[in-house]
Amino acid sequence: MTTTDTLPSLVQLAQRFQAVNGDDPEAVKACCAAAYGLDLVALFLGDSYHPGGAALTRRLADAMELRALDRVLDAAAGVGTTALLLARERGVDVIGVDLGEVQVARARGRARRFGLADRVGFEVGDAERLPLGDGSVDAIVCECALCTFPDKAAAAAELARVLRPGGRLGITDVWLDPERLDRELRGLAGRVACLADARPIAEITDTVSRAGLSVTRVERHDDALLETIDQVETRLRALRLADLPPLRGLDLRRGVELARRAAEVVRCGDAGYVLLVATRPPMDTPCAVSST
Ligand SMILES: C[S@@+](CC[C@H](N)C(=O)[O-])C[C@H]1O[C@@H](n2cnc3c(N)ncnc32)[C@H](O)[C@@H]1O
Repeated sequence: MTTTDTLPSLVQLAQRFQAVNGDDPEAVKACCAAAYGLDLVALFLGDSYHPGGAALTRRLADAMELRALDRVLDAAAGVGTTALLLARERGVDVIGVDLGEVQVARARGRARRFGLADRVGFEVGDAERLPLGDGSVDAIVCECALCTFPDKAAAAAELARVLRPGGRLGITDVWLDPERLDRELRGLAGRVACLADARPIAEITDTVSRAGLSVTRVERHDDALLETIDQVETRLRALRLADLPPLRGLDLRRGVELARRAAEVVRCGDAGYVLLVATRPPMDTPCAVSST
């Protein structure tokens, strides 16, 4: 299938966005997963659907001290780029979970082509209700996805549940001061663009801490977000110039304008990209026994 073949589905998706009630979390999640299943996403972002690409994934793996033979969960794994990189370069086994059936099918196909299907598997599942047992993984990575989950506290609690005591969680995510968000980016399209429901860094660390994990490292990688926005803007301009008939229903000029404004918010220091590592305490703290 070519990118041009998928353009009508982009227009259909845009229409579906307009029909979705933004207050219905299940509909919001389904739309987000469908959007990332479009071939066109790869045209904008390449194979890594997160700012910083493979370089930032390697930085995250170093910060988490991933060890060969660790069993790793990639939560919201997309088309499996991070999972495959970690298996190939760090010798870990990975289970990737993503809500999008298209992404999971592609990720499985890529694992087979790379000869890694025995060590890297993918399942359709919701990060807010993970299809994994308690304490079943040594480490979890979650890249550019927490910002899209409607119930971040539920997702953080699930990540903490499936992590074994002493295990490590590594997140990279968009952070943002919600006060600075452009009104037009507050809707569903803004959520898919990872902006509408991105939270300030303090709130992200708080969400993770409330799930019972200890945050041990926070790094800012704001330039990575700027580069991604610039890349998207350049490609939107190119699509606009191409003037493809199936895209005539979309306001690409507005898209370019919003990308430019989003870049401005990052340049002003009100949004960016954060890397965070947290650990689950080695043994759950016993309940305090009162001595009378
Ligand atoms: C920006 S992409 C990031 C993908 C991948 N982590 C990467 O860095 O390449 C966000 C992904 O989150 C997935 N997603 C959104 N909501 C989800 C949920 N509730 N549970 C699992 N996956 C979800 C989408 O389907 C999409 O593939």
